[in-house]
This record gives sequence, structure tokens and C-alpha cells, in this order.
Amino acid sequence: ETVRVFAPATVANVACGFDIFGFAVDQPGDEVVLTRRDEPGVTIVAILGDEGRLPREAARNTAGIAIQKYLEHIGRTDVGVDVILHKQMPLGSGLGSSAASAVAGVYAINELLGRPLSTIDLLPFAMEGERVACGSAHADNVGPSLLGGFVVVRSYNPLDVIRIDTPTGMHATLVHPDIEVNTKDARFILRNEVSLKNTIIQMGNVAGLIAGLMKPDYSLISRSLVDVIIEPVRAILIPQFDEVKQAALDNGALGCSISGSGPSMFALSANAEIAQQVGKAMQEAFLSVDITSELYVSEI
Ligand code: HSE
Repeated sequence: ETVRVFAPATVANVACGFDIFGFAVDQPGDEVVLTRRDEPGVTIVAILGDEGRLPREAARNTAGIAIQKYLEHIGRTDVGVDVILHKQMPLGSGLGSSAASAVAGVYAINELLGRPLSTIDLLPFAMEGERVACGSAHADNVGPSLLGGFVVVRSYNPLDVIRIDTPTGMHATLVHPDIEVNTKDARFILRNEVSLKNTIIQMGNVAGLIAGLMKPDYSLISRSLVDVIIEPVRAILIPQFDEVKQAALDNGALGCSISGSGPSMFALSANAEIAQQVGKAMQEAFLSVDITSELYVSEI
């Protein structure tokens, strides 16, 4: 018996919502193929598309650990599965690559066993994948990859995850420059203290973005896509950050910031045509310093 599951890439943080906002895109994404076997245990039999860089040991692989934790939780360690992981997106890209593998893995095992848990209850196991990938079990990539759409992680303890409606036709532009940023490093450089002044600004934008998405109100969305805490620190990891962001805004984007921990950058636009034009301009800004990039545009 075999199950094949695709889980999409995601944009975490969405400017002001560090570790609490994320949305899913249509592509790219990762695919997991699970095949049941008699001998108990989880074995990664093949990983395609990672240039041999990801751990093959199940307990250190994001899909493998998510499946193992799930089987332990439901008391089915008698089950045995062979896992094939098709990485269809770049590693260390800020597109939620580790999350997509974990989500595809845990969703696939739940299907294979006849769906004993509901989709939302799979989240903690996918978060374990994030823990092995970067040392922190954040849910802003796994949440939207699992549930689709725009997701708010209101609380981690207890876990409280909410799906938010987005305006019809709103599109995301994703530009992945051909450089790599390690999430662990990108978290390490952050300061632990935040000023009261910046906290107030950030809270205003967090509230404004959610209100803007739900009303919907494009001008409010645009004014709220601002991050005064994380982006100023991480921008130094991305060559041409200011120029790429300016190019997006000059071409009609509602806002532009770092996707997850970078180096990919995202922009939100009111429609597909603007989103394409914005993507072209962002790519050109990277290319002006000889950095090539991949472009993805999808409705969110
Ligand atoms: N919220 C996480 C971070 C996402 O920014 O570190 C990592 O993809």
C-alpha cells in the first residue's frame, strides 16, 4: 500500500508577524511517498533533489521524525514504512522547505492508517520536524503548509492556530536568490530584547494586517506590512535587500519583506498581473549585482 502527498512552500512571518504569521503558496513544494511494509519502523529509502545534503537517518530528518512522533503518539510503533522524499524546492531558502517535508510526511502516514487524527491534530508532529531542522519548533511554516491559506499562530502553549481569510485575487510574489541562509544562524543573530517603542509599532501592524486582510482593505494591508524588529537585523544577510524591496514597491506591490528567515523575499499584490511585474523587477534588482533567482507567483 502506497500513499503520495504534496505539501506546499510557505512564507513565514509575513513582515510583522515573526513566528506567528504564515501563508501557503501553490508551488513549489515537497512530495513524500510512503509504502507500508511488515517490519516495524521508519526508514528513509531515498531522498531526491537534495544533492545528498539532508540526513537519511529518520530521527534526524524532518519527515522521518514527524512520522516517528506521530506513530509513538497514536501507539502504533508496530507499523513499518519506507519513505521516499522528493525535494522540489531549494534548501535554506526561507520557503519552508523543512516544514513542507514534515507536513507531507505526517499527512501521508495519517492517510495510510485511515485518518485516525484530524488534520489540525497533525500540527505538533510536523513541528517536531522543525525542531530537528533548526532547533525551534515554530509553527508559522508547518501551520499554513498543513492547513493552506493564511494562518495565525495565536499561542504556542497551548497551541492555538487560526485560519484567516484573504482578499480574493491577492497574489504573492516569491523571489529566491541563488544564495543560502541557514535558519539557525538567522535566528541566532536576533536580539532577545525589544524596546517598548518597537513593540507598540509592531503590535499596531500585526493588528492592522489581520484587519486589512479580513475587511479587506488593501491600503491598510499595505501600511501594515512593516517589520521594525526582525527585518532590520536580517536584511544584512541578503545582498541588495533595500534595492529589491524598493523595486517591488515601485512596481505596485502592497508590501515586501523577507520570506521566513530568508534569503527569499516575498511581496503581496492586489492581482496576478502586478505580482508578475513586481517579480520581474525584484529579479532585475538581484541581477544588477549578478545574483540569479527563481520566481514563483501564486494566489494566496
Ligand atoms: N519564523 C521563523 C523565522 C521561520 O523567521 O526564523 C523560519 O522559516
